[in-house]
Amino acid sequence: MRHLIDPMDLSVEEIDKILNLADDIIANPVKYQDACAHKKLATLFFEPSTRTRLSFEAAMMELGGNVLGFSSADSSSATKGESVSDTVKVVSCYADIIAMRHPKEGAPCLAAMKSDAPIINAGDGGHNHPTQTLTDLLTIRREKGRLDNLTIGCCGDLKFGRTVHSLIKAMSRYANIHFIMISPEELEIPEYLKQEVFEQGGLDYEQVRTIDEVIDRLDVLYMTRVQRERFFNEADYVRLKDTYILNMKKLKKAKKDLSILHPLPRVNEISVDVDNDPRACYFRQALNGKYVRMALILTMLGIDR
Ligand code: NCD
Repeated sequence: MRHLIDPMDLSVEEIDKILNLADDIIANPVKYQDACAHKKLATLFFEPSTRTRLSFEAAMMELGGNVLGFSSADSSSATKGESVSDTVKVVSCYADIIAMRHPKEGAPCLAAMKSDAPIINAGDGGHNHPTQTLTDLLTIRREKGRLDNLTIGCCGDLKFGRTVHSLIKAMSRYANIHFIMISPEELEIPEYLKQEVFEQGGLDYEQVRTIDEVIDRLDVLYMTRVQRERFFNEADYVRLKDTYILNMKKLKKAKKDLSILHPLPRVNEISVDVDNDPRACYFRQALNGKYVRMALILTMLGIDR
């Protein structure tokens, strides 16, 4: 039994297969509509979510399967003091596969040790978010036609933003990728990732403080929200929250084929006037999230069509 806890749990070949399967699902949805008949997905969300949970549930429904679960820790026995391990041990008797989100880094990994069903990490604290990364890879591949030879700007909260942490790990395995990390000094990518991914991993990167100084060089701009819930004090959040606001004026110098991604939810960091620009991919990206999760569920349950 395999779990998906970290994006590096999947090889490049496995990721390729999942993305190819997602492309096929998009092209031939009817072929897959009963593929998960009589299978159940449990979504255990100890932390808020809109896209991730609902796209997982929609994915399982479109595969003809069923879903059960909870959308907040408040409505689970966590409020009675039950451990994550016990919760998962029990839920794995009821479901064939489990998607789990938790505010504590490492919680899904711990859960996987006890589970009798495959666990998918749907976000653990400021750590990883591998299914968002699959969504991002599918989006980049569909928009740009490739996953190599790209200059990718990541902008915003690179310290707490788990989607960026997982994305840089996954992208480190493709050829000729250059990352430009755009953040205030206080929200730079954590030191352990600088070491692991950029320095030891040999991934090319630079750090800058403004979008303006690099926008003309980017193939992909990955915007992120400042992660309010992970700040130690509100004053720091208020000071940093509007550091970057992407608008049409800022895009003047950008390439004509730039792809603007955002895992969403957006707060202020992309002005709504950008939404109508063809380079804005974030709503297509959210839709891709459903298809890639369909592909992932099929793959992890070993269902072949
Ligand atoms: C992201 C997350 O939960 O990390 N959202 C998502 O899953 N699409 C990004 C965020 O919350 O800022």
